[in-house]
Amino acid sequence: MAGKVFIRTFGCQMNEYDSAKIAGLLEASEGMTGTDTPQDADLVVFNTCSVREKAQEKVFADLGLLKRLKRERPELMIAVGGCVASQEGRAIVHRAPHVDVVFGPQTLHRLPELLERRRAGGRPQVDVSFPEIEKFDRLPEPKASGASAFVSIMEGCSKFCSFCVVPYTRGREVSRPFDDVIAEIAALADQGVKDVTLLGQNVNAWRGAIDGEPADFAELLRYVAELDGIERIRYTTSHPREFTQRLIDAHADLPALSPQVHLPVQSGSDRVLAAMKRGYTALEYRSIIRRLRRARPDLSLISDFIVGFPGETAADFEATLALAAELDFDGSYVFIYSPRPGTPAAELADDTPAAEKVERLQRLSALLEAQALAASQAMVGSVQRVLVEGPSARRAEELAGRTANNRVVNFRGDAALVDRFVELRVTGVRSHTLRGELGHAA
Ligand code: SAM
Ligand code: SF4
Ligand code: F3S
Repeated sequence: MAGKVFIRTFGCQMNEYDSAKIAGLLEASEGMTGTDTPQDADLVVFNTCSVREKAQEKVFADLGLLKRLKRERPELMIAVGGCVASQEGRAIVHRAPHVDVVFGPQTLHRLPELLERRRAGGRPQVDVSFPEIEKFDRLPEPKASGASAFVSIMEGCSKFCSFCVVPYTRGREVSRPFDDVIAEIAALADQGVKDVTLLGQNVNAWRGAIDGEPADFAELLRYVAELDGIERIRYTTSHPREFTQRLIDAHADLPALSPQVHLPVQSGSDRVLAAMKRGYTALEYRSIIRRLRRARPDLSLISDFIVGFPGETAADFEATLALAAELDFDGSYVFIYSPRPGTPAAELADDTPAAEKVERLQRLSALLEAQALAASQAMVGSVQRVLVEGPSARRAEELAGRTANNRVVNFRGDAALVDRFVELRVTGVRSHTLRGELGHAA
């Protein structure tokens, strides 16, 4: 099926990664090219997210908008993948009968075959099974675009936090083999990639074998850091439960490892953490951060928080605020708890009024934003190593790059600098970006 594909991605970086793989797969197997409007497309793919109710409802609302297109052009194929697909399966076709194919995060490599069967057999095709790691063996070779790349090192999650759909939508934790991960990063480095982000729901749950010996995530990082051309390593997301001393030591030993760590805490109250089944206490979380800061004094810590979990009292929330104030985060994500069908927390009594939850969200977000702004302001005057990404979003004659702690810096410079590291002096702070100047030795 040559022609054009429009891919819309909802949700997290795992979905972003999968969408890039879907595009590569359709190009390799069908000769399809991308388009950025559905009106132009022969195939529309929605790669969906169901982590909160709003995310899921947005998918159905946007699918509704495609109904008219399908009526006008019945040959237009519509495919729904990702976590809503995984959770809802065939129910998607009942709710949105104009959908032709439903595929899951673990069956995306079967998309060409499902489309083919739909065209041949007439019936909508649904395959949201979990053939585990098979998908990686059936995807085209990685192709770099620019100096940064994402590499998935594990799939799924086995933690079963009481509020979360991910273990149900993406299946249990499965690690990609060491050799495959290293081969993929080395292939990307050969194509000019310098900055790699290792992806997974809990990357520090990665387990593998190196030369027949069992290996953990900390060891994997040490091997990635050895690869020629790789100068910056990030990973997301990690989990406090497996944040071992070995991993903290890797932060002390590996300069390529980004000082920005995304380590979701969710709550500062032990009572709430236990009800969430997170498997750690607030004290244990504090201890990890204290040791991480000792290893990397320039640590830039970001986190996820849920407010309004069933039964969260004003005192529980104050404990979260106190933890945030004490640990000094560098920006974070705050969500209001959203009950998800099929998860244990959805059965819990929840008597906090909605307005109270919104107020908690606002108070915590205001604190976290002020902390991030203060961290940006503290960077003014410093010299930062920045990977240049391309023209700046606002002014085409300027360039934009990223610091080690993941801030965008805009500056004047020659386009030949794109995809290279430069040293910039930070000269000012805008609301979400920095300004910088070239010509300063580190
Ligand atoms: N695996 C990561 C971890 O446990 O740290 C997080 C993955 S989850 C896709 C991203 C974030 O969404 C979570 O850290 C949590 O804050 C939030 N989240 C997940 N389920 C939620 C729910 N039912 N309501 C509100 N926020 C939720
Ligand atoms: Fe969801 Fe918890 Fe797994 Fe994170 S660790 S994906 S919050 S179940
Ligand atoms: Fe959403 Fe699935 Fe990611 S639920 S956040 S797309 S793992």
